[in-house]
Amino acid sequence: MNNLIAPSVLAADFANLQRDIEMVNNSEADWFHIDIMDGVFVPNISFGMPVLKAIAKHAKKTIDVHLMIVNPDQYIETFAALGANILTVHYEACTHLHRTVQAIKATGMQAGVALNPHTPIAVLEDIITDLDLVCIMSVNPGFGGQSFIENTYKKVSQLKQLIEFTNSTCKIEIDGGVTDKNANALIEAGANVLVAGSYVFGSENPTETIANLKNSIA
Ligand code: DX5
Ligand code: ZN
Repeated sequence: MNNLIAPSVLAADFANLQRDIEMVNNSEADWFHIDIMDGVFVPNISFGMPVLKAIAKHAKKTIDVHLMIVNPDQYIETFAALGANILTVHYEACTHLHRTVQAIKATGMQAGVALNPHTPIAVLEDIITDLDLVCIMSVNPGFGGQSFIENTYKKVSQLKQLIEFTNSTCKIEIDGGVTDKNANALIEAGANVLVAGSYVFGSENPTETIANLKNSIA
């Protein structure tokens, strides 16, 4: 499987959003990672539908939407209409996760489930074959620029084993604190998609940073 880079738009310059979207379009990045936070599920509010609509208008790559909100079910159709290609909900926010995943897939989007750092991989045993993506949070969700939690490697290996054991085609995405220091080891452990926010947008030359990251995991 080709390893992918998904720059997190949360770390972009919102006053120059079109410029930053075009930078990603013209880079070696694979996806746009879009963080939607509601101030309830996580202690921060990012941005909502009008901003996603504006991003989608210019984005020429897969739009990977990470919902950090309570009651995601009520917005599934909306995010599909806004142009999301992958919709990821949090395990911790879904009482009827199986129903939510089926509802996402019914719109034609791919379905992802994100796990907080304290949530064990084992909770996915009975749903892994229905998923297109599992997002392992390597920081506590809510903010960019936090330090990577080292326990993530163990979870990646466990998830990889579960995916192989069940013949699932699900991808493993890592979100939070990804840099050139951990990218390689994460891929070695079994990750397929690396989200990177502040490491990319905070660097002097984001296009080059993306290219180097992509190269290092090729
Ligand atoms: C955190 C978000 C991440 C965040 C990653 O809640 O889900 O996607 O943007 O940012 P960095 O790469 O700066 O940790
Ligand atoms: Zn995210």
